[in-house]
Amino acid sequence: MELKICVLPGDGIGKEIVAQAEKVLKKVAKKFDHEIYIDHALIGGCAIDEYGEPLPQETIDKCLKADAVLLGAVGGPKWDNIDHNLRPEKGLLGIRKALGLFANLRPAKVFEELKDASCLRSEIVEKGIDLVVVRELTGGIYFGEPKGIEIRNGERFGYNTMVYSETEIRRIARVAFEIARKRNKKVCSVDKANVLDVSRLWREVVEDVAKEYPDIELQHMYVDNAAMQLVINPSQFDVIVTSNLFGDILSDEASIITGSIGMLPSASIKDSNSPGLYEPIHGSAPDIAGQNKANPLATILSLAMMFTYSFSLEKEAKSIENAVNRVLSEGYRTQDIYTKGFKLVSCSEMGDLVASYI
Ligand code: IPM
Ligand code: MG
Repeated sequence: MELKICVLPGDGIGKEIVAQAEKVLKKVAKKFDHEIYIDHALIGGCAIDEYGEPLPQETIDKCLKADAVLLGAVGGPKWDNIDHNLRPEKGLLGIRKALGLFANLRPAKVFEELKDASCLRSEIVEKGIDLVVVRELTGGIYFGEPKGIEIRNGERFGYNTMVYSETEIRRIARVAFEIARKRNKKVCSVDKANVLDVSRLWREVVEDVAKEYPDIELQHMYVDNAAMQLVINPSQFDVIVTSNLFGDILSDEASIITGSIGMLPSASIKDSNSPGLYEPIHGSAPDIAGQNKANPLATILSLAMMFTYSFSLEKEAKSIENAVNRVLSEGYRTQDIYTKGFKLVSCSEMGDLVASYI
C-alpha cells in the first residue's frame, strides 16, 4: 500500500518521541512492503516561533493531503504568557476541528509487565483494567459560544457554554456502540444529567441510539461517580462515552491507574475517508525535553492505532504491539516506568529496541 503520513512533532519531548515512532514506521513499511511518504509540519509553540501562529495554513493543508497524521505534543513554559488566542494548545484544538475529528479514542489497559507501576492496590489491578474512553472532541464546552471574559456591573465575568446538538451526540454514541461491539459489548455513558440540561439531552439521545444496538448493554453514570468508580472498581468498564471536557478529565485518570501516562496512545477519527490523527495522551513534558529520557511507547502505540483505524492493516498494528510487549518483557524501561532490577534505557534506545523487534 502507499501510505502518506504527515508528522507533527510539536514541542518539548514531541520531537524525540515522534522520531522513535518514525523509526518503527520505516521498519514496518519495509517488513510488510508498504511505500511510505512522510511529510513534516509545524504545530504549537514551534509554529508560533516560526510563523507567529500555532496552526499555520500550510500545516492544515499538509494534514488534509495525508492519509493520517502523527502528532507528538504541544506547549511549554516559553509560550505560557502569550496572548490566549495564540497559545500552542490552540494549534491542537484547531487541527482537531479543521480535520473534523469528532471522536477521540483513548484505550487504557494495564500491561501485564507493568502491573506494579499502577497507583492502585494490587487486588484492584488484579481484576484487570481494559477500557476505552470515547471522548467527543470537536464540541461541548471547548468550542461552545458564547464565551469570554467581560465586565458586568464593574466586575469581571468569565463564561463558556456547554452545548451539544442531537447530531453531535448521536454520531459519538454510534462510534462508542460500534467499538463496544468489537469488545465486551458494554457502554457506560457519562454525564451530569442530575444538574445540566445539556446532559439531559445527551442521555436521551444516547438512549435512543442504544435501540439500534440491542446486543450492547448500556449504563448511565454521573461524572463524579465515574471518577470514583474508575479508582475503586475499574474492571467494570468496557467502553466509556462522554463529552469533551469530561473525557479530557476521565482519560487522564484512566491513564494513570494503568501505570504510566507515558504508555497510552490515542486516535482521533472522523470517518474512513478522512485523515485520522494519532497522538500520545501525555503532554510535552518540558522538564525532561531534550534529555533523551522520554518514554516513546505511547507514540509508538499511537502508530499501531493508525494502522488499525486509518489503514485497516491489523497485522502491522499487531507487530508493533507485540514488539512493545517484547521490549517490556525483556525488562527494558524508560525512567518513568523504571523500578529497581530492570534495564534503564533512553528514549532513542527504546525506539531502536522496538524497531529491531518488528
Ligand atoms: C488532551 C489535552 C488537550 C485537551 C489540551 C492540551 C488542549 O489535555 O489532549 O487531553 O484538553 O484536549
Ligand atoms: Mg487532557
